[in-house]
Amino acid sequence: MPEASASVPTSAQELDDLPLPTDLAAVKGWFHPADQVLFDWFLNRQRTRDEPGDLLELGVYLGKSAIFMGDFLRPGETFTVCDLFDSPAPDDANSQEMNRSYATLTRRAFEANYRSFHDELPAVVQAPSAGITAHVRADSCRFVHIDASHLYEHVHADIAAARRLLRRDGIVVLDDFRAEHCPGVAAATWGAVATTGLKPLCITATKFYGTWGAYDEVHGELKAFLEGRDDMWHGAEEVAGQPMIRISGGKARMPAHPVSRHASGVPGQGAAVAGAAAAGAAQAKGAAQATAGQQAPGKPGRRNGDNRRPKGRGLVSFLSRRS
Ligand SMILES: C[S@@+](CC[C@H](N)C(=O)[O-])C[C@H]1O[C@@H](n2cnc3c(N)ncnc32)[C@H](O)[C@@H]1O
Repeated sequence: MPEASASVPTSAQELDDLPLPTDLAAVKGWFHPADQVLFDWFLNRQRTRDEPGDLLELGVYLGKSAIFMGDFLRPGETFTVCDLFDSPAPDDANSQEMNRSYATLTRRAFEANYRSFHDELPAVVQAPSAGITAHVRADSCRFVHIDASHLYEHVHADIAAARRLLRRDGIVVLDDFRAEHCPGVAAATWGAVATTGLKPLCITATKFYGTWGAYDEVHGELKAFLEGRDDMWHGAEEVAGQPMIRISGGKARMPAHPVSRHASGVPGQGAAVAGAAAAGAAQAKGAAQATAGQQAPGKPGRRNGDNRRPKGRGLVSFLSRRS
């Protein structure tokens, strides 16, 4: 959310002038290292266990977390993203939220960013998240990230939708569940824990991770994983009968990132990993792709150094269209 980061485009022109991202760090948004570690862990665990299912994100903005999630999509699966982008919000409160925080957002900007990292766009639903159950099959998702409107009524409905769309042991993640400026997310999150059987697995400074499915095994494996890391503090707190894990990850080392086709790397070396701390695993991943001289499945190939945004129709500003 904007209150946590001042580094967002403040005008359509500024957004239009942004070069296409050479790495994930260059994509504006809100997706902190500790949460990247956890997304990576949960999604890798599903991959290792061959857990089938689709991916869903409500609220993508310019694609930071969506681009990351897109790396975990397997053949035959669907990744659906839902955002209003430059469409009108369904009510006044949501409209104010949009004007305050995402006034310059366009679908075109998101899609250009996403295509910088992946060959295929996800299924894009440009509409209020309230209607997502008309676009995604019930019991089809293994991972749902809720990060759209931060107002109580919307988040409450998004959680109900996630419950319906998730497969039995699927994971739901809620953004900004304890931020001072959006108490509605907290109310909706803990309300779901209290009344719908949502079991809290862990929390970071910004996100809540839970499941309506099996708890003990995933919780035990997550605890063991965290015990092996020296960059993230964790402790336990019994909540609604579950030993929820509290995580403090201010110094978390970022996991491997998707590779941008606009990266200007030295041939034979891993390029386009965001942030110095992403070195280890990320470099290994990038290097493997580069030295093999081929792109990983579903990954963009290296093109050229031109990362200017395509011009022509130009980016449409939500603000300018309203003024
Ligand atoms: C906090 S941002 C998402 C951040 C993003 N996940 C990232 O990684 O940077 C919230 C997004 O939700 C969208 N949004 C707000 N209200 C919405 C609604 N009712 N339905 C769908 N999307 C909505 C906004 O357009 C905005 O792009």
